[in-house]
Amino acid sequence: MYDYFLGGTQNFPADRKAAEQQLTLLPATRVGVRENRAFLRRVVRYCAERGIRQFLDLGSGIPTAGNVHEVAHQGRPDAVIAYVDHEPVAVAHARRLLHGEERVTVTQADLSHPADVLDAPGVTRLLDFDQPIAVLALSVLHFVSDEADPAGVLAAYQRACAPGSVLAVSHASGAGLSATQVVEGLRIYDQTPTPLSLRPAEQARELLTGWSLIPPGVVPVVEWRPDFDVSEEVRSAVGNGWAAVGVKPSASG
Ligand SMILES: C[S@@+](CC[C@H](N)C(=O)[O-])C[C@H]1O[C@@H](n2cnc3c(N)ncnc32)[C@H](O)[C@@H]1O
Repeated sequence: MYDYFLGGTQNFPADRKAAEQQLTLLPATRVGVRENRAFLRRVVRYCAERGIRQFLDLGSGIPTAGNVHEVAHQGRPDAVIAYVDHEPVAVAHARRLLHGEERVTVTQADLSHPADVLDAPGVTRLLDFDQPIAVLALSVLHFVSDEADPAGVLAAYQRACAPGSVLAVSHASGAGLSATQVVEGLRIYDQTPTPLSLRPAEQARELLTGWSLIPPGVVPVVEWRPDFDVSEEVRSAVGNGWAAVGVKPSASG
C-alpha cells in the first residue's frame, strides 16, 4: 500500500485495492506518506551531520526514491546501512534492487523481536554496536500492537546501542481526523496482514524512554526541522502523524 501511495510499481492488486479505499477515505494520505519520506531524508542527513555513519532501518519497506543509503552516502560515503523488514516480498524486492550496493544489507526479521534483529548476520557483520548507530523506526511502529509492547521493544534497542546513538520515530496518530475516518481507516488495515495501532503524540515520551529528545521534540512530521516553511494547507492536510528524535545519553547523563 505504501509503495502504491508513493507512486511505485512494486505492488499487487490487493495492495492497490486497499490503498484506493484508504485514498477515498483520506485523500491526504498520499501527501502524508511523501512528507514521511521527506522526514526520513531530513533525519538521515541530520544523523550524518552529527557524525553518525551507521544506520539500522527497522521496517525499511520496498526501496523507493531517496532511500536511507542514498541520503546517508551523500553526506558520508563510508556510511553503512542495515535494512530490516519482516515482509518477504519487500525483502525480496529490496535484495534485488540493492544487489551490488556496497555497505548495505537487507535482513528479513520482525523488529518486535529485537534479539532476532540484533543477532542477524546482516546486522552483526555490518554494524559496530560500540559506536553510535541511528535506529530508524519510521512509519512502522503503528503496525506493532500494544500486546507486542513497542516501548519494551525500543528499550531493547536502546540497551544495545552505544551512547550518542539516535532513535528516530514517525507514527500515525489519527489527530485531526474525523471519527469516521479513524474507524473506517482502522477497518481497512484490519483486513490486511498488518492492522494499525494509532498512538497519540502524548505517548511518544513513553516510547522513547531512555532517549533524550532533540529539539523540536515531539511534533507533526512536517514540523521536524523542515527545510522550507510549511504551508497551512500542508500542515492541516497531514497533521495525522508525529515525529520524534532522541539521542542516547552517556552513562554520566
Ligand atoms: C509504511 S512502510 C514504511 C517504510 C519506511 N520505513 C518509510 O518510512 O518510508 C512500513 C514497513 O514496515 C514493515 N513492517 C511492519 N511491521 C513490521 C515488523 N514488525 N517488523 C519489521 N518490519 C515491519 C512493513 O512490511 C513495511 O515494509
